[in-house]
Amino acid sequence: MVKVTIERGFRAVKGSKNFSTALKVPQFSERQKNEFQYDIGFIGAGNMGYAIAEGFKMTNPNLKILASDSNWNLDRVQKWNDIGSNQTQQNENIFENCRLVVLSVKPQSIQAVANELASHGTSEQILMSVIAGYSIESMRKSFPNVQNLVRIMTNTGCLIKEGAIAVTPSEEVPLDVVQEVMSLLNGFGLTELVPESSMDAVTGMSGSGIAFVYQVIQALEEGGVASGLSRDVASKFASQTALAAAKMVQQSDRDIQSLIDDVTSPAGTTYAGLQKAKEMGLSQAVQGAVQAAAERSFELSNISKK
Ligand SMILES: NC(=O)c1ccc[n+]([C@@H]2O[C@H](COP(=O)([O-])OP(=O)(O)OC[C@H]3O[C@@H](n4cnc5c(N)ncnc54)[C@H](OP(=O)(O)O)[C@@H]3O)[C@@H](O)[C@H]2O)c1
Repeated sequence: MVKVTIERGFRAVKGSKNFSTALKVPQFSERQKNEFQYDIGFIGAGNMGYAIAEGFKMTNPNLKILASDSNWNLDRVQKWNDIGSNQTQQNENIFENCRLVVLSVKPQSIQAVANELASHGTSEQILMSVIAGYSIESMRKSFPNVQNLVRIMTNTGCLIKEGAIAVTPSEEVPLDVVQEVMSLLNGFGLTELVPESSMDAVTGMSGSGIAFVYQVIQALEEGGVASGLSRDVASKFASQTALAAAKMVQQSDRDIQSLIDDVTSPAGTTYAGLQKAKEMGLSQAVQGAVQAAAERSFELSNISKK
């Protein structure tokens, strides 16, 4: 028997057989003028929204978070409950109750959200978008009541608090608010302020780039297996080697070429491998992948503006 308590527009959907819960309900009447009951609200509680919410909570456990989604299944409710957030199915509750509103739906869903919520928002609020290709200009047109607009681009590294997060605030955002947002984002990765014109490059290099690095790790593993290693050992050593390389690059103040030189002796094994990688175009392939992804991001941004 599925038992779900539904209260004032807040409800759970599709419980499993043993699902018995009441979603927590914000008390609108308790809201004081110029005060928001929640610090942060999410419109779209999927992978990226959750990763960001969890990061916020890790560094600021006292933050009050409300999340809205059109699809609250049992697993999702449980995950958001686990980080102490409340849930709603009504997007307008986010604008009504949250000071910082995070747009974390897929690009194809943002128009519907914008149509629904165009009249919401106030000058006291901050609207932050994580949506690929969704520009500050589009945010301004869709949500004219909110002046403080922030666009970010990140990657799934956020899920393990190792994201690479590019941040572009609109010119109206006061410096202290920019600093506040940056310090919140620091909870789940490395943050950098970038001009909005860099967002497609960031999308290609770190947003999509994590997949290119996965592919290099996968190729390392396949090379290990082809050279005689068991799959198990090859798999563990491939990711460990990539981890070591990334940490060496981050922790050393030397350039990458000098780190390569360190492990390359004339006529040695690394030299032989690097010669083959050069012959087969490893470096050009990765650079080409980043540029193709950045160009695609540019195309998609233009489509979403139409
Ligand atoms: N995942 C990444 O690696 C990554 C990296 C960088 C940026 N991003 C950006 O992050 C955004 C979210 O990606 P994601 O991977 O988290 O997607 P996701 O897991 O699909 O999450 C989006 C959630 O929003 C819900 N939703 C759809 N329409 C809605 C509406 N009108 N109101 C409220 N909720 C709605 C979806 O429900 P349904 O399932 O019912 O549609 C889904 O649960 C995207 O715009 C993407 O560009 C993602």
